[in-house]
Amino acid sequence: MPDALLDRIAATADLQELDSVRVALLGKSGEITAKLKSLGAMDPDTRAAEAPKIHAEREAVTNAIAERKAALEAAELERRLATETIDLSLPVTESVSGTVHPVSQVMDELAEIFADLGFSVAEGPEIETQWYNFTALNMPENHPARAMQDTFYLQPHGDETEPRVLRTHTSPVQIRAGENHGAPLYVIAPGRVYRSDSDATHTPMFHQVEGLVLDRRITLGHLKWTLETFVKAFFERDDIAMRFRPSYFPFTEPSAELDVGWSMEKGRRVVGGSEGWMEILGSGMVHPRVIANMGLDPNEWQGFAFGCGIDRLAMLKYGMEDLRAFFDGDIRWLKHYGFRALDVPTLSGGVGA
Ligand code: DAH
Repeated sequence: MPDALLDRIAATADLQELDSVRVALLGKSGEITAKLKSLGAMDPDTRAAEAPKIHAEREAVTNAIAERKAALEAAELERRLATETIDLSLPVTESVSGTVHPVSQVMDELAEIFADLGFSVAEGPEIETQWYNFTALNMPENHPARAMQDTFYLQPHGDETEPRVLRTHTSPVQIRAGENHGAPLYVIAPGRVYRSDSDATHTPMFHQVEGLVLDRRITLGHLKWTLETFVKAFFERDDIAMRFRPSYFPFTEPSAELDVGWSMEKGRRVVGGSEGWMEILGSGMVHPRVIANMGLDPNEWQGFAFGCGIDRLAMLKYGMEDLRAFFDGDIRWLKHYGFRALDVPTLSGGVGA
């Protein structure tokens, strides 16, 4: 085995040069290929003597090439790692063009406001069983309330007896949070929800935030104070008129919708003042049956809950007119209504931007 061949391989400077050496030795008209071809013309004795040598040479060359290739690739990676560095200590400049979507911004604001009141953030799946989305929330099968929400049903999965649904509201997270964490419990659950509905104010996917408090001796007074504190902190003004209007939800008893006063400012309807009322959320005292469905004793634990559309909150606070534009992914809209990535909402700095 001539060491010269191995030296030639070891001396290659890069992958391209190595590949030409490979072709020159092992390619169709390569040196070693030629030697292999010459075996056919040899007399049997010579062939028996030469064949093992030629095959050994081919194997040694093949191995040397593979080894050199690995070494060159490792060196190439090292070189790239050394040159392609990112200086994480560099300050972010205005040239960073991504923005925070208003829905994400509002979710961050909600988390900040409610964290200050002692709430944590809970999550649940968007593909939900009918038990969590309806039944556990005191909406049994054939209950008319199920028809109130235009539900997307999924194809039955495996041996499922009931098809799953895209959750129609964030309320199922109440059950999951109660089940997983027990009481006392103070949580909000922001997230995506789905209903088969589409026009200027409805999109098939939208966002809600759920609130749930479970504790001993919780009353409507706690609910009212919490919502008042939330609304004032969120809209960042104190002159917000509020009224509770009796309503009906299967999972709360009694139930109430919260209306806030609005007025016209610069041609746009804003929260605050008293030119009219608009409804912003549903709420109530958690139905004892719902508490039992979480595996808790309704004689020991009471609570309140509320559910509120996040997109609507964003429109009211930041002045967008058409909900559909939220989900078009139009870069001009996102630049106009988006928020700077580094402006984290804080209560001390003002939760809004
Ligand atoms: N889940 C209701 C809906 O989507 C909203 C709601 C109303 C949630 C009252 C609640 C509540 O937690 O107490 O329309």
